[in-house]
Amino acid sequence: MSEFATRLTAWQREHGRHDLPWQGGTDPYRIWLSEIMLQQTQVETVIPYYQRFLVRFPDVAALAAAPVEDVMTLWSGLGYYARARNLHRAAQRIMSDHGGRFPTTAAEISTLPGVGRSTAAAIAAFAFGERGAILDGNVKRVLSRIFGVDGFPGEKAVENRLWTLAESLLPERDIGRYIQAQMDLGATLCTRARPACVRCPFQDDCVAYRDGRIAELPTPRPR
Ligand code: ADE
Repeated sequence: MSEFATRLTAWQREHGRHDLPWQGGTDPYRIWLSEIMLQQTQVETVIPYYQRFLVRFPDVAALAAAPVEDVMTLWSGLGYYARARNLHRAAQRIMSDHGGRFPTTAAEISTLPGVGRSTAAAIAAFAFGERGAILDGNVKRVLSRIFGVDGFPGEKAVENRLWTLAESLLPERDIGRYIQAQMDLGATLCTRARPACVRCPFQDDCVAYRDGRIAELPTPRPR
């Protein structure tokens, strides 16, 4: 499906999300904060936390200088508290090792505590326009279904196949919109339970839909 990216970004323009508080800007600090909060938490839950956090910690320097207890207090209720500890440690690392300037490549960003390959690629794309694939839970689900990738995505071999597929689909330009489009499709149409296939731009090409295997893909954890 050579026009995958074109069709997906066209769908995003029309039907994607455009007014989330972290969209529109290119401040890597704000984008990083949103991506960490969104790793395990829904958009609606994140929004008020994101806004309060930025009032108290408007930039990396403010976050790095704060006592970790203040960071934990603002995180209280969001869960997965290792995220907050890593955020604070990463801010201090940016001050000590990067002269207070947020690193500008996915390779460097991925060395920060709490930032994996997919999150680093998303931050680098949104903030710096760097071309790179993402592969979070939503994207694993979308690609497994559309391209009929069998096997539990938590398995290294399956994950590697999905990374290779994700890389092969990357558009040359407009990478930020493309990444947002993947997230939006996974979050709003290609959901885990009862996906809205009738509204999906890939209904006619989706292997899982064609074969009646929407409920079976992605393959669940073997047990
Ligand atoms: N989930 C992870 N990153 C996101 C983003 N930038 N927008 C919406 N949902 C997301």
